[in-house]
Amino acid sequence: MTTETNVALLGYGTVGGAVDRLLAASAGDIERATGHRVRVVKALVRDTAKERQVADGAAITTDFAEILDDPSIAVVAEVMGGLEPAGAYVVDLLARGKHVVTANKQLVARRAPELFAAASAGGVQLRFEASVCAAIPVIKVLRESLVVTNVHRVLGIVNGTTNFVLTEMEGGKSYAEALADAQARGYAEADPTDDVSGADAAAKMAILATVAFNTRVPLDDVQYAGITEIDPLDVAAARELEMVVRLVGAARLVDGGYDVRVEPAFVDAQHPLAKVDGAFNAVMLQGDAIREITLAGPGAGGTETASAVIADITSVIGTMGTGFLQNDAAWREVPKLAPGASRSPFYFRLLVDDRPGTLAHVAEGLARHEVSIARLVQHQAGSGATLHVVTHEAPAGALAAALGDLAGLEEVRRASRPIPVVSDRGVAELGWA
Ligand SMILES: NC(=O)c1ccc[n+]([C@@H]2O[C@H](COP(=O)([O-])OP(=O)(O)OC[C@H]3O[C@@H](n4cnc5c(N)ncnc54)[C@H](OP(=O)(O)O)[C@@H]3O)[C@@H](O)[C@H]2O)c1
Repeated sequence: MTTETNVALLGYGTVGGAVDRLLAASAGDIERATGHRVRVVKALVRDTAKERQVADGAAITTDFAEILDDPSIAVVAEVMGGLEPAGAYVVDLLARGKHVVTANKQLVARRAPELFAAASAGGVQLRFEASVCAAIPVIKVLRESLVVTNVHRVLGIVNGTTNFVLTEMEGGKSYAEALADAQARGYAEADPTDDVSGADAAAKMAILATVAFNTRVPLDDVQYAGITEIDPLDVAAARELEMVVRLVGAARLVDGGYDVRVEPAFVDAQHPLAKVDGAFNAVMLQGDAIREITLAGPGAGGTETASAVIADITSVIGTMGTGFLQNDAAWREVPKLAPGASRSPFYFRLLVDDRPGTLAHVAEGLARHEVSIARLVQHQAGSGATLHVVTHEAPAGALAAALGDLAGLEEVRRASRPIPVVSDRGVAELGWA
């Protein structure tokens, strides 16, 4: 027996239009899988005068109440973006007993506890697969497939724009040229600030950490830096060390605390994340029982995002009721790791006077803070030398203190900022021993 299930869209732009078209084209498949005939009956927009190709006769409206008050609508997809009014609409819909599926990373990253509580109170589901990495089904894998796996580390390239820019810089372009190219191809917005500053990736990492660690990680707890400071010297140094520069999101559960950050990193050329080129995204999950799973694919795009929205709608109608893993009480309390406690191997470079004893002073300065050198490459640079240094794993705070000391040495002219290194290979295997 087939049940007629009505769906509404908040937003009918790039993603909303694609959801409508793809749902109309796949209604038969969804009906076979779930027994529900799904139809988009209403879509909320700002401007009804805009020309739109509405797939299946959905009514276009500017009045949210037409959706909220329509008892025939069971599921709503929020694909309009922004924090308000989207946030208030989602809360109202959940309170009214409507399931909600959203693609809005800023909303989920900033207001997850409130939204989950509203879903729980309303006895309905809130799903948000499309908010992270579009077509890549990482939320579902974390919440459902890896529920007993104790995932303790998530590493990801979760912003396609910056990955495209960094990949182009490897090919010899400057940052400005690579960004202009990304804009020309439609990978970067006219105002790319959210992408290049790391803010977009930070929102996605807050959501991934929240789901992976089953605790609430607020966006404010995610430390982030973007790629605007990356210069061709960094890219060249990485190449020399058989690595590539990537904007890496890293979430770790260590010593009973979480650490979530987004920053440029040197990624070992053998590492799965180094192979993610252009506008693609990838997420690597590490857990007790699974060792390591990497998911990769397109992380943006109307149709790609719509496929995730529709997968969530299908999951909702296939598990109607309070649904699967929606228990708001299941969250656990995990503190944020102390600043500076996050451990990683790091790369940095020093411009030094080329005179006897310099290397020993540098090594001593690092050792005083228990930071040891894994690899060192020296290049002559005019009257001085550039030292490219890769450290063994060390707390970020200890390295920052050591670099502060080194900058004060007479023979050190300049110290770069440290860049974390991502590598699975041991120091000996890398030939760094
Ligand atoms: N595009 C992607 O590749 C992608 C990927 C992943 C996630 N997302 C997320 O998906 C969401 C939608 O993105 P999009 O690219 O589809 O955006 P978009 O093309 O700008 O479409 C936004 C839609 O929402 C409507 N809207 C916006 N504010 C509204 C308001 N206050 N009241 C009523 N309607 C409103 C707009 O109405 P009008 O048409 O009348 O202007 C438009 O139809 C965002 O949260 C975005 O972050 C997008």
